Formats: sequence, structure tokens, C-alpha cells
Amino acid sequence: MIDPSTVLRQGLLGLSRSKQVRQVIENAPVSRDVVRRFVAGVGTDECLSAVTDLLHGGRLATIDFLGEDTTDQSHAAYTRDAYLTLLTALSDAGLTADGKAEVSVKLSAVGQSLPQDGEQIALDNARQICEAAKAAGTTVTIDMEDHTTTDSTLGIVRELRADFPWVGAVLQAYLHRTEADCRDFATEGSRIRLCKGAYKEPESVAYQDKIEVDKSYVRCLKVLMEGAGYPMVASHDPRLIEIAGSLADKNLREAGSFEFQMLFGIRPDEQQRLAAAGHQMRVYVPYGDEWYGYLMRRMAERPANTMFFMRALASK
Ligand code: FDA
Repeated sequence: MIDPSTVLRQGLLGLSRSKQVRQVIENAPVSRDVVRRFVAGVGTDECLSAVTDLLHGGRLATIDFLGEDTTDQSHAAYTRDAYLTLLTALSDAGLTADGKAEVSVKLSAVGQSLPQDGEQIALDNARQICEAAKAAGTTVTIDMEDHTTTDSTLGIVRELRADFPWVGAVLQAYLHRTEADCRDFATEGSRIRLCKGAYKEPESVAYQDKIEVDKSYVRCLKVLMEGAGYPMVASHDPRLIEIAGSLADKNLREAGSFEFQMLFGIRPDEQQRLAAAGHQMRVYVPYGDEWYGYLMRRMAERPANTMFFMRALASK
């Protein structure tokens, strides 16, 4: 029998790429209020204020200027410039010291999917963002998007790491290939964020069953924790968080040699608990007005998130 939550998830992930639905939802008067639960704000000031609160509470931050699937070069340059402005503002506010606040970048937002020279444009834009991060004394992590971009993204990460060895990459446990990618990347100095994966992917490349995804996550985590790199455990899943802690102990890893990561607005109490227990706990903070794709993926992950949105719509 088909699991209704799988149908809902696949449907929402399908809608996350629909331009028509995007217009309707973005223009609904309720949307901006609801979005506040998962998005730190539209402008740099609101983002800075959210990040300042997190850092004062003992957490770390990685900031995503929202946007993806850029279709023209000027928009890719606009996104790059937004990151440059953000990094200067973070540094001026003293938030980048010791890499406490860093940035996360989607390559499709800085040009990767442009039909002509997309990869080169994305690499050039990402390189400028890395230069600005270096000047600010912090790091950059390159987000991972759907499987058609994995090879291109990892190729760009490798090129960036030749000049900026601290550039982080994301690997998605739902892809069949990821355990092997973890082996390749579990090397000295490498920062790898392991997540389950948030896109609609075919059976030919990705596990569809949640239990299979979780098992793959544990296998990948073992490789990363046993390796010489810096694992970044990106999950809200209590069982995986516990397993990550046990694997870290087993491999004699100290608290500063790996970190936990969660999304802004999700399980804030657990974020505080982990930080108070002495762990590195980094929060992924999205901001900006292009929140549609991000919000739809959050709804697809959890029926309760969808209900929250529906209730808000109904109450207007
Ligand atoms: P999952 O969604 O399966 O939830 C497992 C359990 O966690 C639930 O059963 C519940 O117990 C708990 N939980 C989850 N949400 C909760 C909530 N709202 N309230 C209370 N409990 C909750 N993806 C991607 O494809 N590319 C990327 O670059 C990134 N980047 C990224 C960065 C960071 C820092 C994070 C945390 C995540 C990503 N992701 C991502 C998203 C990731 O792939 C995944 O879709 C989400 O993290 C959801 O998966 P979970 O591991 O949290 O488990």
C-alpha cells in the first residue's frame, strides 16, 4: 500500500519547482507571517539580529541568502553581491570571529544552471564569496541540490578547496553514491555536512524508504567519524543525534572535532540542549525574499509543518 505521507511529500516536492504555484503562494497575504517561523527575515538587518541572538545563546550559525535555479547572469551576480555585503556586515558586527557565523551557498543561485558557461560562472562567483569569507575570518559551505548537480557541485568544491581548503561540502544520505563520496571526502581538513537529502529523486539514484535513508545515514556517519575530516551532523532526528554522539565517543573525538547542525526554527530546545552540553551546535539561518522553494521542502519533510501553514491560511 502507498504511504499517504510519501504521496504528500512527493507532491509538495513537485510543487516546489512550479512557477505558477510559487506566484500564488508568494502573493498570499498570510505567507509572510507563516514564513517567519522558518526564515530569519527578508533584509540583512533582520538576519544579523537573528544571528546575534543565536551566538549570544552559545550556538553557531551558517547563513543562506535564499535563492536557487537562477536563470540569468545578472541575478547570479546580484546573489553573489548579497553574500559579499552580508559577509562585510557580519564581520563589522564581530560575528565571524573563529568562524562562529559562516555562510552556506547554493551554486544554482550563483549561476550553475545557466545554459552557457554556468559552471564557470558559478565557480567565479563562489570564489569571490570565498575571498570575502577569508577576509572576514570565516568559512563557506556549498549546499547540495538535486542529483543532476552532484558531480558538478563536488567538482567545483574540489576546485575551490585548492585555494580555500576550509570550504565545506554537503552529502545527502538518500543517494546510493554517498557512502563512497564520504570515503573520498573523509580526509584531513575536509568539512562535510551530512544530511538526509531534501529533493524529489528517482529510485534509480536514491533510497525511497525512510528506513533505508536512515540506515545509509548511519553508514555514512561511521565513515566520516572514523575519518580524518570534520563531520557536520545535519539532522533533527533524535536517533541519529544519539548515534552520532556514540560514534564520536567510540572514535575518541572531542567536542570541537565535529558539530551538530539544525535548521532555523526547528527543535530550538534541542539546539540549546546540545550547545549547553558543550557541543558545537550550528543553526542554518535562511533569509531573503526568495523563500518559496525552501519553505516547500520544509513542508514536505513533516506533515505537522504543512498543517501549521494550512491552519494559518484558514485563520485569515
Ligand atoms: P526527518 O525529517 O526524517 O525527521 C526525523 C525526526 O526528526 C522526526 O521523526 C522528528 O523526531 C524530528 N523532527 C524533524 N523535524 C522536526 C520538527 N519540525 N519538530 C520536531 N521534531 C522534528 N538538504 C539537501 O538536500 N541539501 C542541503 O544542502 C541541505 N542542507 C541542510 C543543512 C542543515 C544544517 C540541515 C539541518 C539540513 C539540510 N538539508 C539539506 C535538509 C535535509 O536534507 C533534510 O531534508 C532535513 O534536515 C530533514 O531531515 P532530518 O534529518 O531532520 O530528519
